[in-house]
Amino acid sequence: MRKLLIIDDERPILQMLEISLSSEGYEVITAENGKEGLKIFEQQAPKLVLTDIKMPEIDGIEVLKRIKSIDNEAEVIVITGHGDMDSAIAALQHGASDFITKPIRDEALILALERARKKIAMSQQLRDYTEKLEQKVEAYTLELRQAQEELIRTERLATIGETVAGLAHYIKNILTGLRGGMYMVNTGMAKDKPAMLKEGWAMVQRNIQRVSDLALDLLRYSKERLPERTVCRPNEIVSEAVELFKERAAEHRVKLDTVLDPNLGEAYLDRDGIHNVLLNLISNAIDACIYDTDTSKGWEVIVKTKLEQDADMDETILFEVTDNGTGMTDEVRTKLFTRFFSTKAGRGTGLGLLNTQKIIREHGGEISVKSKVGKGTTFSVRLKRDIRASMPPGHTQAGT
Ligand SMILES: Nc1ncnc2c1ncn2[C@@H]1O[C@H](COP(=O)(O)OP(=O)(O)O)[C@@H](O)[C@H]1O
Ligand SMILES: [Mg+2]
Repeated sequence: MRKLLIIDDERPILQMLEISLSSEGYEVITAENGKEGLKIFEQQAPKLVLTDIKMPEIDGIEVLKRIKSIDNEAEVIVITGHGDMDSAIAALQHGASDFITKPIRDEALILALERARKKIAMSQQLRDYTEKLEQKVEAYTLELRQAQEELIRTERLATIGETVAGLAHYIKNILTGLRGGMYMVNTGMAKDKPAMLKEGWAMVQRNIQRVSDLALDLLRYSKERLPERTVCRPNEIVSEAVELFKERAAEHRVKLDTVLDPNLGEAYLDRDGIHNVLLNLISNAIDACIYDTDTSKGWEVIVKTKLEQDADMDETILFEVTDNGTGMTDEVRTKLFTRFFSTKAGRGTGLGLLNTQKIIREHGGEISVKSKVGKGTTFSVRLKRDIRASMPPGHTQAGT
């Protein structure tokens, strides 16, 4: 860092400087013109340069510019003629660290050189710090990324493990059901017992239905998809879904009713998706009545729709499925949307609410639940009606 290049075309000055600065402990290299100076600079890369401004051919400003373009951190001190402020300013503008005027006073020069050296030392230190900091940041980032990848990997493994375990359990149940049904069918035929045959056949059918439900639930769960929206009537979707459960509800003495908002009209929704949401919620509600041990109740499931308006005058559709069945404990409520969580002892896939939530999220909607053990449960789904904003062009809304 004590290597100092001095460029001056006046030999006596050059010699004088060489002597005085060598005695100050600098390792002095000299050049008699700009061209030579630049050549030496490129070869020896001194950090300190002292150059005269007025020189033939390549002048000090040009030397300064080229040195700065080669090594921006080299400190260049220029020597200007007495009163030549223009050159001094030009030199500073081009990144000179200092200027001294002729005639050169030793103290001024030594001071300027000291300042330049301090600057070099500081920028070196700063660079070291930054480099260390960068290395540290890089190392931390790498560690973090590895940790994150590890986490994702273990979580995914756990997910696959859970999925397979849950599935195996459920399929085993279905197989047991199927075997039981087949046994009854066989025995019924062999012993000519039509009642047994009929019951066995119903059992086989039920379990085939369960396999197909499971396959559909799994497919829905694994597929990321955007809702395929069309203009449709939410009340109609509700009526159709409810119709599918009429028989099962009646069979278990559950009253199944609807309260539909006549002002609801049309909405822009994924019809199949919402149909599915309703099927899941209604089947759970009926199950909650079937599993209820309080036989003194008149079990009831009500499916409601309502057009709501929020503060921004946005229209929201509310679907509400209420039952007065078992209700649920806080523990069950926190696990509702967990994969394969089911309290139905092998009769549920535990995927229904998960799929329901997924569909509602894909719609940008919300689902919430209120429940009281022994009293019953209400699931509320809110979706934007959004009919005007998102309607395909050319569609005219009925009644407007
Ligand atoms: N209306 C409800 N009343 C009481 N419990 C419910 C209701 N809906 C859902 N649950 C609880 O949430 C669990 C998960 O529901 P779901 O994801 O549909 O799976 P599954 O119906 O296959 O068990 C159910 O097993 C049940 O314990
Ligand atoms: Mg369910």
